[in-house]
Amino acid sequence: VIELGRIAIIGAGHVGATTAYALMLRALVREIVLIDDNEALAEAEARDLMDANALARPARIWAGDYEDASTAAIAIITAGAATHGSESRLAVTLQSADIVGECADQLAASGFKGIVVVASNPVDVMAMTAFERMGLPAAQVIGTGTLLDSSRFRQALASRLKLAPQAIEAMVIGEHGDSEVASFSTVRAGGTDLDQLGPAMNAAEREAIAKEVASAAYRIIGGKGYTSFGIATATVRICEAIARDEHAVMPVSTLATGQLGIEGVYLSLPCVLGRNGVEAILTPALSEAEQAQLLVSAELLRSSF
Ligand SMILES: NC(=O)c1ccc[n+]([C@@H]2O[C@H](COP(=O)([O-])OP(=O)(O)OC[C@H]3O[C@@H](n4cnc5c(N)ncnc54)[C@H](O)[C@@H]3O)[C@@H](O)[C@H]2O)c1
Repeated sequence: VIELGRIAIIGAGHVGATTAYALMLRALVREIVLIDDNEALAEAEARDLMDANALARPARIWAGDYEDASTAAIAIITAGAATHGSESRLAVTLQSADIVGECADQLAASGFKGIVVVASNPVDVMAMTAFERMGLPAAQVIGTGTLLDSSRFRQALASRLKLAPQAIEAMVIGEHGDSEVASFSTVRAGGTDLDQLGPAMNAAEREAIAKEVASAAYRIIGGKGYTSFGIATATVRICEAIARDEHAVMPVSTLATGQLGIEGVYLSLPCVLGRNGVEAILTPALSEAEQAQLLVSAELLRSSF
């Protein structure tokens, strides 16, 4: 297991600060540095977290700069232009690309050689942007992608099937956004496929679940203005799989290299995550319809870069 001393979080807004809090409670690292253009905000969040730390496992949490990030094992990028109301994630591409591009340039200039986890939206395009600007192997630049959507999907199936979400293997792949693909054909629990797990689900019901999953963020943003706990937990789970060299399999955004006919574009596919980042990309056996949907998602993303 690698000695994972430090994680840097770039962007100390809702997502960055919540990720820092979740990381602290998980006691994954001893040092967490927060970097934000808004230095007063990063400073305040770091102090608030340090107040909490006396009651958690000891860690040093401070507001710092890119020099502090240079020796981090993982840098999490959450800086970006937040979306409002029903605005799609792709609507803020240009604004976010400027911000993420600048963060990636500064991180690269610091000499950082670790693993980059991008959460900023539109996350597939931002992960690709960070990959292009960092000059690191694609395996080391990961987007949080549809890990969060997959957890929403498992939750929705779990309540319908009266099973624990942990017992259900289910994933959303493709874009983290409106064109994402909820793969019903690969759902399993106890080696049993969906049709055998409960009352038959017709196409309309499946579509309703997929829509509910894809629009979950809009509903949350409608109520509280942003989302934070889900994405922070997904980000920490990715860091944990890397830190513990778990070789866990989860859908995250990565540079496709020919899987399912897709190449040269960042999107979510089930990936093996370990100390080197993406250790392997898996190729799920999708239904024909899901495969076609995935290609549409890939083309949409390709036209967004
Ligand atoms: N991937 C997901 O599932 C997911 C979920 C929720 C939010 N997000 C995305 O995460 C990003 C952050 O969301 P938020 O709610 O925390 O927004 P926020 O506005 O609260 O925080 C963004 C922070 O980035 C900082 N920032 C801006 N430009 C910067 C720069 N050049 N360098 C350093 N810091 C800079 C801002 O000062 C701000 O504190 C957005 O892109 C949002 O869409 C992704």
